[in-house]
Amino acid sequence: MNRTLVICKPDAVERGLVGDIVGRMERKGLRLVAGTLRVIDAETAGRHYAEHSERPFYGELIEFITRSQAFVLVVEGPEDTWKIVRTMMGPTNPADAPPGTIRGDLGTLLAENLVHGSDSAEAAAREIAIFFPELV
Ligand code: RTP
Ligand code: MG
Repeated sequence: MNRTLVICKPDAVERGLVGDIVGRMERKGLRLVAGTLRVIDAETAGRHYAEHSERPFYGELIEFITRSQAFVLVVEGPEDTWKIVRTMMGPTNPADAPPGTIRGDLGTLLAENLVHGSDSAEAAAREIAIFFPELV
């Protein structure tokens, strides 16, 4: 799978950081395949984050990801693009993310960590089908 799903989360859109985040991916050499600015509805968010449905932070997670517009995109690269994007994002908690990563450079809060990237080839295929069924 050479494509992966990226979400510039509501905090990134609210703070005007979409251009920075997407620009990093373009400069890295990844190609934009599709992108849309939308408010993710609760049903779609629930499907996307289904793996976390039993976690204590699930309610907060859904509330956050649906609170305002997100920029949802598909990027494409040579091989294991999901992994390239995850490396660029940095660890889940911005407090642990080194400078040079998106979360390390731009964020401070675990719950508002700016960006989502699929965490495997299987997840990339599943998530692209949720947000961009026309690409499948
Ligand atoms: P994402 O799915 O959003 O790209 O983030 P991730 O893979 O790095 O992290 P994941 O484990 O999938 O968690 C999804 C989001 O849930 C929030 N979270 N809160 N309170 C907590 O312990 C906790 N753990 C995770 C984070 O905002 C994370 O991005
Ligand atoms: Mg995840």
